[in-house]
Amino acid sequence: NATLLFMGRAAVRAHALLGDPAARLFGMSPARDPYPEYEAVRRRGVLVKSRMGLYLTSSHELCSSLLRDPGFGTLPAGALSPVDSSAQVDGRRLVNPVEESFLVRNPPDHTRLRRLVAPWFTPRGLRAQQATVERVVEEYLDEVAPRGTFDLVGDFAARVPVQVIADLLGVPGADHAAFARWGSALVNALDGVRDLGELRALHAGLREFQAFLDDLIAHRRRRPGGDDIVSALVAHQDLSREDLIATTELLLVAGFETTVNLIGNSVLAVLGDPAVRARLLDDPGHAEAVVEETLRHDPPVQYTVRVPFESTRVAGTSIPKGTPIMLVLAGANRDPAVFADPHRFDPGRPDVREHLAFSSGIHYCLGAGLARMEGAAALRGLFRRFPDLRAAGRVRRRPSRLIRGAARLPVTTGVTKR
Ligand code: HEM
Repeated sequence: NATLLFMGRAAVRAHALLGDPAARLFGMSPARDPYPEYEAVRRRGVLVKSRMGLYLTSSHELCSSLLRDPGFGTLPAGALSPVDSSAQVDGRRLVNPVEESFLVRNPPDHTRLRRLVAPWFTPRGLRAQQATVERVVEEYLDEVAPRGTFDLVGDFAARVPVQVIADLLGVPGADHAAFARWGSALVNALDGVRDLGELRALHAGLREFQAFLDDLIAHRRRRPGGDDIVSALVAHQDLSREDLIATTELLLVAGFETTVNLIGNSVLAVLGDPAVRARLLDDPGHAEAVVEETLRHDPPVQYTVRVPFESTRVAGTSIPKGTPIMLVLAGANRDPAVFADPHRFDPGRPDVREHLAFSSGIHYCLGAGLARMEGAAALRGLFRRFPDLRAAGRVRRRPSRLIRGAARLPVTTGVTKR
């Protein structure tokens, strides 16, 4: 992945022409359907070598076992994103939210940091969020209802999770448009910055994001005792400024850059399948099954990377210490060894929970329960209010291969119910 990030587009294209599996994936337009490529990786073998310095797998069994293997960790610092960590904001170091957060740290730091925020995501913590989620969904539906035609992503799907996570972090009245801008710049850069302009935009976004967080933290230090996550983190005297910022940024970005696509992708699935819509209209409880099947069939996070701490053997191949293995979670989710008729969108299929959309092992998504709750509430609310919701224009895809979803999805409401 690191190699891919810094490798020129021309080199990726050349390797892709030669049939290299990683180059084919990275050279492909994000607008294209990636599933045939994931399938092609699986057909080549359980573990496939790329000439670009990494291995790939779409095997469900291998992805699950590597994710749970303590001999494997996340990529070393410096490998993932092109953020210059020596840059300064107002005299303070620019924190790299991707590389410095616990998402990509290994134990014992990972354990220490994850433990600090875990209580908000337990079943009990989630029950406390349910009312906020329902309220936020209804608020945004009220807002779009009079318009008739709107952008399902920008006007609805992107706003719900921002508001929910902002509430958890204690940022009322959050500027969702700014969060969305910062978050997208960051996440889209994860699988490659196309040019200097994109790199500058990324740094500018990060600077604003960080100045905002420094202010927020200073504010909480002056007025301690709140019951939000940032207040709790600030109360930990031994937590460094960098860890505090990286953890808060991770929650903000992971909390909405993914969930917006879960909502978008599940709405796309319903719009494209009259039988699924009919069932959902008949039984709003079906929303949970539609969301779960969307997570399997078209997951927002398409892949992750693991590296062995020591040289080892994987699926009969010797892998030198530190070699990245790209785990194609979205490919594993369509592995016929686990899912019958895997390309079929089939809400309620028996083994759906085996999917790897939220990863597995120690990095298993902390917000999985919240994401499921938001996805189901959004889908239920949307189709209850607009049973005739229809696509009203071309879907524009996000410019990312790591994160799959729509950037724009124009819809029209037809008959509106209250
Ligand atoms: C980790 C997916 C929503 C917070 C992860 C990972 C995946 C993932 C795949 C692990 C990556 C890896 O193993 O390398 C998703 C998807 C979501 C979603 C598909 C929505 C549909 C959320 C939400 C939150 C959240 C709503 C929080 C509010 C986190 C955190 C981690 C994480 C904190 C890091 C966990 C760790 O490293 O221990 N997520 N996520 N996610 N997610 Fe999510």
